[in-house]
Amino acid sequence: MAASFAGKNVLLGVTGSIAAYKTADWARALGREGASVRVVMTGAAGRFVTPLTFAALTGHEVHADMFAPAGAETIPHIRLARESDLVLIAPATATTIARLANGLADDLLAAIVLATRAPVVVCPAMNCAMYQHPATGSNFSRLAGYGYRLVTPEAGAMACGEEGPGRLPEWDAVRESLLAALSPQDLAGRRFLVTAGPTHEPLDPVRYLGNRSSGRMGYALARTAHRRGADVILISGPTHLPSPPGVETIRVRTAAEMHRAVLDRLGGTAAVVKAAAVSDFRPASCADQKIKKSGPPAALPLAANEDILAGLGRMKKERPGFPLLVGFAAESRNHLAEGRRKLEAKNLDLIAVNDILATDAGFGAETNRLLLLDRSGRAEELPLLSKEEAADRLWDRVASLLASSCQS
Ligand code: CTP
Repeated sequence: MAASFAGKNVLLGVTGSIAAYKTADWARALGREGASVRVVMTGAAGRFVTPLTFAALTGHEVHADMFAPAGAETIPHIRLARESDLVLIAPATATTIARLANGLADDLLAAIVLATRAPVVVCPAMNCAMYQHPATGSNFSRLAGYGYRLVTPEAGAMACGEEGPGRLPEWDAVRESLLAALSPQDLAGRRFLVTAGPTHEPLDPVRYLGNRSSGRMGYALARTAHRRGADVILISGPTHLPSPPGVETIRVRTAAEMHRAVLDRLGGTAAVVKAAAVSDFRPASCADQKIKKSGPPAALPLAANEDILAGLGRMKKERPGFPLLVGFAAESRNHLAEGRRKLEAKNLDLIAVNDILATDAGFGAETNRLLLLDRSGRAEELPLLSKEEAADRLWDRVASLLASSCQS
């Protein structure tokens, strides 16, 4: 099951930083993704934003008082600690971080964090000198030692007029940390190389031969593997997608550039997953100047690009311990037969066949329906899933193939 916020109780702890106004939007974003958000504010947080802001956005009362009014059914910090599936502290000030590092329980938020068994994600936000102070650094180490996830702040201009690290990170990076906190870390210690997107083969300085691949499937593979603890290198052809937080993204343009990048970064990888729609051909020559309307070429001669995956498959035959190879097959007919043929011909361990004519799957779609074929002859038809869910199912298969290759 892909990690998601649907049905999750998320406790958002807001502390006294000017960045508190930004996390009001995060409470809304979590709610839109199906989470039930309970907000706990420290006294200092209330100086920057009002409880009413968060109450209106979450639809729930905001908690700030350790000593609940008489008649409360249970002790608030224990009830909130127990009910939470996930705790997010954002923004987390140096004071709150020091309080948590020392295991204090002298305000409602600190008491909840001490009492909860849920994963804790901390987003520090503070002046850069405070952030760089060794006291703060050693507090971070202690929090990491308790198993809390720390989201690295961004560097830039600060509200106080200084410039440096300490700014609250963007929601996308925080969202990834939260989803990672909800995911099994079954791919930790593994490095994967994923390729994504189309390639663009230039014809002249402005034109190219390309294809309709959006890159979404490869990016979903990179995000989901990273969430499950893997170290991921994403080699991406031209796309409009942002680099997934925490994933080393190498942007390339042509099939030849992708080929070089793959060979350069192969060392130490447990598996290579080639979701990229690599162009099989390139214009035989690329004009230095723009080809003018007045002089159209009578024909466009093409040259074949090397098949990157087939090359890896040949290397694998000669090198024991070579990474697991996973290909994709973009097909419009004879899916099973073509998938099996490519699995054999390219010497792959697993292939995911896509129907490129389906409107709800494959190129450009948000969803995908994959047929997974492996060397044992097993064919697994996945239902229509979001690309992230499909990616998670593919990683499940990679994990089990890696486990069985360790045993054999
Ligand atoms: N692939 C590659 N290098 C190429 C072409 C394809 O590495 N020059 C990889 C793709 O990334 C994919 C797999 O090979 O994982 C299959 O790609 P696909 O386009 O389905 O098949 P082709 O081998 O190109 O065959 P055809 O176009 O004839 O279907």
